[in-house]
Amino acid sequence: MKITSTFASLLVCALGLATAVHGQQKKTTSILINPPGLPKLPTAEAAKEAAAAAGLNLTNIQGDIVVGMSKLFETFVFFSIADATTFKSKLRSDILPLITNAEQMLANETQPDTLVNIAFSQTGLTALGITDNLNDTAFQSGQLANAQTLGDPGTTNWVPQFTTGTIHGVFLLASDTQTSVNASLANVAAALGTSFTQVYTLVALARPGNQVGHEHFGYLDGISNPAIQGFDDNPLPGQASVATGEILLGEVNDTMTRPAWAKDGSFFVFRQLEQLVPEFDKYLTDNPIVESGLTVQEGADLLGARMIGRWPSGAPVFLSPLADDPALGANSSANNDFTYTAPNNATLCPFSAHIRKNRPRADLGAESKNTHHILRGSIPYGPEVTAAEAASNKTTIERGMAFTAYQSNIVTGFQFLQQTWMNNPNFFVKNNTGFDPVVGANHGAARWTEGNLDPINPTRNFTLVNDFVISRGGEYFFSPPLSAIATTLST
Ligand code: HEM
Ligand SMILES: *[C@@H]1O[C@H](CO)[C@@H](O)[C@H](O)[C@H]1NC(C)=O
Ligand SMILES: *[C@@H]1O[C@H](CO)[C@@H](O)[C@H](O)[C@H]1NC(C)=O
Ligand SMILES: *[C@@H]1O[C@H](CO)[C@@H](O)[C@H](O)[C@H]1NC(C)=O
Ligand SMILES: *[C@@H]1O[C@H](CO)[C@@H](O)[C@H](O)[C@H]1NC(C)=O
Ligand SMILES: *[C@@H]1O[C@H](CO)[C@@H](O)[C@H](O)[C@H]1NC(C)=O
Ligand SMILES: *[C@@H]1O[C@H](CO)[C@@H](O)[C@H](O)[C@H]1NC(C)=O
Ligand SMILES: *[C@@H]1O[C@H](CO)[C@@H](O)[C@H](O)[C@H]1NC(C)=O
Ligand SMILES: *[C@@H]1O[C@H](CO)[C@@H](O)[C@H](O)[C@H]1NC(C)=O
Ligand SMILES: *[C@@H]1O[C@H](CO)[C@@H](O)[C@H](O)[C@H]1NC(C)=O
Ligand SMILES: *[C@@H]1O[C@H](CO)[C@@H](O)[C@H](O)[C@H]1NC(C)=O
Repeated sequence: MKITSTFASLLVCALGLATAVHGQQKKTTSILINPPGLPKLPTAEAAKEAAAAAGLNLTNIQGDIVVGMSKLFETFVFFSIADATTFKSKLRSDILPLITNAEQMLANETQPDTLVNIAFSQTGLTALGITDNLNDTAFQSGQLANAQTLGDPGTTNWVPQFTTGTIHGVFLLASDTQTSVNASLANVAAALGTSFTQVYTLVALARPGNQVGHEHFGYLDGISNPAIQGFDDNPLPGQASVATGEILLGEVNDTMTRPAWAKDGSFFVFRQLEQLVPEFDKYLTDNPIVESGLTVQEGADLLGARMIGRWPSGAPVFLSPLADDPALGANSSANNDFTYTAPNNATLCPFSAHIRKNRPRADLGAESKNTHHILRGSIPYGPEVTAAEAASNKTTIERGMAFTAYQSNIVTGFQFLQQTWMNNPNFFVKNNTGFDPVVGANHGAARWTEGNLDPINPTRNFTLVNDFVISRGGEYFFSPPLSAIATTLST
């Protein structure tokens, strides 16, 4: 038989794709971007050593939980279970072998072609016949029931599929090419057949060029995540080191009683947060901080940096108060090394700044008094701002952040940060400091913030008539340990 060279190369191509899809090909690239300003992951050796000492089983923990920051391409596939019996059997026979664990993610060559993780909502667990109580009231009632608590203006802006109670679970598929992500989804879909229905899909991806690792407002994201004891025992200067049980259920210092099978799982919060970038930029341009020596543009940039608490490069305003310092932003040993002390007033960093609201550091006393740590692995979605949008100061194409956070307790984690710190003008440090100007929410009504946002005029009251971040809703999930996927969830 004569094989044409075209056919031969097609064949090679198809075989290459098949091995890649099944994760047998040794990878030389990474699913993660790892920008220099973010903490480096521990080496596989160091993580295994820490885990062995702590009795933590890294192959039982889904990879996205502890190693899921700064991905290149990630697609979220929200699904409904149509036939529980078939779904369970396929879950065990076909999906479990595809699930990526934490240990695999630690080196390029052990990473699969595409990370595959799965998580279930409370209605999903119920659909699988699970009656055990995971002991988190927010998870149990679901995110829809939480919309008011979170400050959303009802559910008018929610993606309709998040309001119908039909989302039983989500697949997280991440890789360094969209082609691999799509191939992996096709694989999952073929395996599950008609036992599940894809209800809603969100395609997310890192921003291009020098914005890689930055969220759509332009700031480097993912810098300050806690180091989990028993996984990363060498926290960087200023990085929180937290008990395993703050993120994983049933581990050290998880204060709640859980079913045994849920140990080493984690609650996964998903929020689709639309970002109105031209509108945000216009607000900064129209309300610059006026300080001698600063141009209007520099004053606008300073206002934005003080709202976040960091400059676009990641350099914190507490350490670099008047201008960005890209070398500091890129230095993960230095860019998180501050506590808001000396001076602990808001001269260097406003009380209402996004990062101070979410982690007040020494404002709370020792870091161990902070029981509100979460592990974020958010990724942007949607295209870059177009020239027409920039010129008109108006968003016409949706873009934003696929916000993700893991924690062992949604009530004291994500929900607390949004409700009690970001949305609360009486932040515990000082009354009347206002909302988090970027992510704080007031049911769609005007927000205000002072919080010493303007260092020259500390009582200047900023009124934010429109939100820059619009909640499109989401859901609360449980990311189970692999052992539960092999047993409780599939039998
Ligand atoms: C579109 C919405 C959001 C944007 C644009 C945004 C942006 C940022 C940026 C630029 C940082 C600084 C870099 C870093 O430390 O990673 C940050 C930090 C952080 N954000 Fe957000 N964020 C958003 C939503 C949220 C939400 C909804 C929460 C939680 C409810 C949250 C919690 C945090 C936390 C805990 C930190 C780290 C604070 C620290 O440890 O210093 N963010 N965010
Ligand atoms: C892993 O892959 C990334 C690119 O994706 C590359 O920059 C890095 O050097 C690789 N690391 C190793 C140890 O090969
Ligand atoms: C760790 O977890 C994996 C996956 O569930 C399991 O196969 C293995 O037996 C566990 N190892 C130990 C030592 O428990
Ligand atoms: C991947 O799938 C998405 C959604 O179905 C589609 O829009 C996109 O074009 C696909 N991309 C590639 C590279 O196959
Ligand atoms: C666990 O909690 C106790 C009591 O709250 C605290 O003293 C201890 O520091 C915590 N352990 C870790 C590792 O954070
Ligand atoms: C949840 O955990 C708390 C603290 O251990 C315990 O008192 C309570 O009974 C638990 N509730 C359920 C439903 O398991
Ligand atoms: C990063 O910061 C640390 C701590 O300040 C410093 O020792 C180190 O030299 C810096 N690295 C670079 C490349 O500047
Ligand atoms: C903040 O504290 C510093 C040092 O104590 C002081 O110089 C400054 O005036 C204070 N600023 C405000 C707004 O209180
Ligand atoms: C956009 O906003 C800028 C800053 O306020 C303003 O100068 C410009 O005229 C606005 N453009 C339009 C089309 O409204
Ligand atoms: C804020 O005001 C309340 C009510 O007046 C008071 O109980 C609380 O101590 C004040 N908090 C601070 C930080 O001043
Ligand atoms: C700021 O103005 C708003 C009205 O826009 C008001 O409700 C709020 O109390 C003011 N804040 C302070 C600290 O004066």
